[in-house]
Order: sequence, then C-alpha cells, then structure tokens
Amino acid sequence: MENSNFLDNYKLEGELLQIFTYPAPVLKKVAEPVTEFNDELRTLCKDMLFTMYHAPGIGLAAPQVGKSIRLFVMDIDFDREEVTRADGTVDHVLSNFNPLIFINPVISNTHGEVLYEEGCLSVPGIYEEVKRFESITVDYQDMYGEKQSINAEELLSICIQHENDHLEGIVFLERLSMLKQNLLKKKFLKKKKKEGL
Ligand code: NI
Repeated sequence: MENSNFLDNYKLEGELLQIFTYPAPVLKKVAEPVTEFNDELRTLCKDMLFTMYHAPGIGLAAPQVGKSIRLFVMDIDFDREEVTRADGTVDHVLSNFNPLIFINPVISNTHGEVLYEEGCLSVPGIYEEVKRFESITVDYQDMYGEKQSINAEELLSICIQHENDHLEGIVFLERLSMLKQNLLKKKFLKKKKKEGL
C-alpha cells in the first residue's frame, strides 16, 4: 500500500468483510492491543471502512469482523443519497466522507450524561436508548502507530464509547437494564432465526 495517509483523500474501495452478529463468541472477547503497525493493519482499516459504509453504519469495531484487536473505524458525517437509475433500479450514492480510525484507544476525562438511541451492525434491526458520557477524551494511535488525542462530544463521543465497548466484549444491549436486555436479546435471536441471519 502507498505510504501516504489514505484517509486524507478517501475513496470508497476495499474488500467487503463478514460482519459477525450477536451472540458470536468474538463479540464477547476482550480484544488484544495492536502492536504491529504494518500494511496488513492498514489494509484491514481500509476494508473495515469499506464494509462500514456498505452496510451502512457509522462505526465498526474489529471484533465485529472477527478480529479480536483494539481497533475501530468511524464516520459520523458522510451523506447517503438514494437515487433511482434510468432503468428504475434504486442505488445509493455516498459522499462527504470523514473516515476516522482509532487504534488502542483509551477513554478518560469523562463528563456529563446523554441518552441516545443506538443501533449496531452486529445486532441489526434493534434500536434502544443507551446512557453515555456526554464528553470524553480519547488517546489513541493512528494506523502508523503515532499517538493522537481528541476531545469528543455528542454523537462522536457516543459512537466512540459504543465502539470502545466492542473492544471490551460488550454490545450496547448489555448497557441496558437486565429486563430490557433479556427482552431485546430474545427479540433479536427470534428475528435472526426467522431471517436466517
Ligand atoms: Ni456496534
């Protein structure tokens, strides 16, 4: 892969990866730190972004594609427009990409509380309000191993906390009360069986 940062001029390309759905064992594991920042890792980042945009979703963690490592990708800004082709088929055009990659993230400096209805590519079709910190600081490494730090608020903060949970083996349902959790897990497993997911 080229040595420039492909995020600077992101193009929608890569390989479509399989997304594991709840209750796949890989989603329940605590992920291992990333130690090698090589082309293989950068290809995985690219493929994860491609898979996320394709789904579509606004975040995807490595365990969701079967890799138990501390990495997630995200884009809370892109636009997705439905277009009808001349032959009547419906397609989607994506634009305004703002891809982000977080490796070995550590969340600190948490403030406030916010409720937001979350969903997850590993629990498709289930949406529920989850309580998160309103603002956080995230220290992480980029795909070249360089240390980075950002302060995140609102949707970015929520999304980072959701994805970071995946690295701890937690899906968003497990942030809910036992009652809600059991109800939604049952609902999802039923749906999964019915749709053959
Ligand atoms: Ni998720």
